[in-house]
Amino acid sequence: MSVAPHAGNGKVTVPDILSRKSPVSKTQSQAPRKITCLTAYDYPTARLLDEAGVDILLVGDSLGMVVLGYENTLPVTLEEMLHHTRAVRRGTRRALVVADMPYGSYHAEVAESVRNAVRFVKEAGAEAVKVEGGERRLELIARLVEAEIPVMGHVGLTPQSLHAMGGFKVQGKTPEAAEQLLRDARAVEAAGAFSIVLESVPRELATRITAELRIPTIGIGAGPDCDGQVLVIHDLLGFSLGHTPKFARRYANLAEIVSRAAREYCDDVQNGRFPSDAESFHQPTGSRESAPARKI
Ligand code: KIV
Repeated sequence: MSVAPHAGNGKVTVPDILSRKSPVSKTQSQAPRKITCLTAYDYPTARLLDEAGVDILLVGDSLGMVVLGYENTLPVTLEEMLHHTRAVRRGTRRALVVADMPYGSYHAEVAESVRNAVRFVKEAGAEAVKVEGGERRLELIARLVEAEIPVMGHVGLTPQSLHAMGGFKVQGKTPEAAEQLLRDARAVEAAGAFSIVLESVPRELATRITAELRIPTIGIGAGPDCDGQVLVIHDLLGFSLGHTPKFARRYANLAEIVSRAAREYCDDVQNGRFPSDAESFHQPTGSRESAPARKI
């Protein structure tokens, strides 16, 4: 399903995303179009989002919570991420496919982390990987970029640091925490990442980071001034069954539609309304067996 990028064929590439950085001096009307990013985990969703014109499909490790039923993202495995990235790849022609590296796949040796990232590109068709963390990922990001793997950074609330952070909390609220976050974002840029996710940070801090960095910022719970926005698709569709964060605007209520359809189906089957004769196959008229003659 994937399309190799060549000039003018509409394929979104890493250089395209870099070119969508809003220069600070530009007014809203002169600024490049904001980058749109949504998560996707399967073939039909990827196809629909790609055909709708979403720029980046992120195979997020949020997969663990919204699709696989884990309590958090920590149990998600490399094999699970590869499996779902392949499905998204098959459904995508235009968008840039970015795969999240799951917890544990880049936390030990750098060489092993690079090998794991290479699997996303080689075996699953990802065009970039995302890793969480700032200053402490400097060496890793630089090595991935050296291995020709474009990297999306991710700072602020990084769900894989759940235990270290003591929960899913807004980050960068104190002056010291804001300075650290700024240093983290700078480190990700200096290491060679092509974009950076800012998750759950005060709007003012996201604006400051966006103004300072030369790479695009993609916000989630970071206010409207980032160069792009990302949401978890299940939150946008009203299909996530757990807590939905305040920043996740719901554009549909799929959970209700699915429940109603399933209840109607059960009711129809139990009351003999499904399947109807029109929904049944029939033998050709001439070949129907005649009823056995009744013995007199
Ligand atoms: O895993 C994910 O879906 C993410 C996005 C929320 C940025 O990391």
